[in-house]
Amino acid sequence: MTASRTTAQTLPLPDDAALAASRRLLDRLAAELAANGNWIPFTRYLELVLHEPGLGYYAAGARKFGAGGDFVTAPELSPLFGRALARQVAQVLQPGDALLEFGAGSGALAGQLLGELDCPYFILETSADLRERQRQRLGERVQWLERMPQRFRGVMLANEVVDAMPVHAVAWRGDGIFERGVCANEGQLAWSLRPAEGAVLAAARTLAIEPPTSGAYESEIGLIAPTWIRLLARALERGAILVADYGFPAREYYHPQRSTGTLACHYRHRVHGDPFYLPGLQDITAHVDFSALARAAGAGGLDVLGYASQAQFLINCGITKLLEKEDPADTKRYLPLVSAVQTLLAPSEMGELFKFLALGRGVGAPLLGFASGNRAHAL
Ligand SMILES: C[S@@+](CC[C@H](N)C(=O)[O-])C[C@H]1O[C@@H](n2cnc3c(N)ncnc32)[C@H](O)[C@@H]1O
Repeated sequence: MTASRTTAQTLPLPDDAALAASRRLLDRLAAELAANGNWIPFTRYLELVLHEPGLGYYAAGARKFGAGGDFVTAPELSPLFGRALARQVAQVLQPGDALLEFGAGSGALAGQLLGELDCPYFILETSADLRERQRQRLGERVQWLERMPQRFRGVMLANEVVDAMPVHAVAWRGDGIFERGVCANEGQLAWSLRPAEGAVLAAARTLAIEPPTSGAYESEIGLIAPTWIRLLARALERGAILVADYGFPAREYYHPQRSTGTLACHYRHRVHGDPFYLPGLQDITAHVDFSALARAAGAGGLDVLGYASQAQFLINCGITKLLEKEDPADTKRYLPLVSAVQTLLAPSEMGELFKFLALGRGVGAPLLGFASGNRAHAL
């Protein structure tokens, strides 16, 4: 996703219907808080505001993608993203294999890949609203799955899906490790701390974070994403899992200077830091800890096949060669393509923050996308 950082005061106001939908979600949150002693973990808050059927940001009717939505993803930016990625997928696919895309959004990436590849295409999408939009765009060429298949051969793909998986919010202070949850305070949603327990405390301790002498070191811990990787590992008989998203290895993610974490809220192409602003009308994301995904893959018996910046991966897959084949004289088509490729590759835009991680089983050859600039050693 690309957008500029802003503050909640400067955000455009939604229309009456959107405000009414957000109020219905607030009622749902109030009921959940009342039933739980006025405290829920942030991960539960995210489940509700992002994924609650009919109410959450992804599950309800917000436009989300493109110019009239809240953010733009790589396949929305340029068809060359999908065409370059197709070359990596083609290298792994064997006769009879399939492609399984998680969280296909508007269906843009599926459209691009289907234009390049001839294999069965499955989508596993949690949002009923988006599933419907994908059906309208892609028709009969795709089959939608309700749950993970028990066995799979081929390529599984998730572009900007892991950042939408709920995370725990954690604060390390001089007097201990706390879980940041959500409460209602004088009619407003607010942060509230409790001593961390169980799996969150165990995961927080393994990070060996030195708390500051005053105040707190705050960050996020994703427990759902590694569990999801283990599930995929169980199903994958042969092939690769490609995860593309913004994030870092643990050493960078939990760097002492990143002391306010990675949460970011996306609303009408602005990025801000208030997750309680208009619940259900904005996307809320956390960066991905790629080391945690690699560890989960190892525990599930998968190999790490590569880890690289998006720029390096797309260049290795030949995105600049694809651009060279376009006709510069056709300026109406060519100039937007050049500008989009710049956004995908520039280190100050999506090129460096976004990464590709490839995991796999039984894939012999080194993968094309990691032929140069493979940073798997950093995970
Ligand atoms: C930010 S959008 C990215 C969409 C698309 N992949 C793209 O690159 O344009 C996140 C997508 O993941 C879906 N999603 C979120 N959590 C999911 C999960 N656990 N399994 C499958 N899809 C999920 C959302 O409904 C949405 O389609």
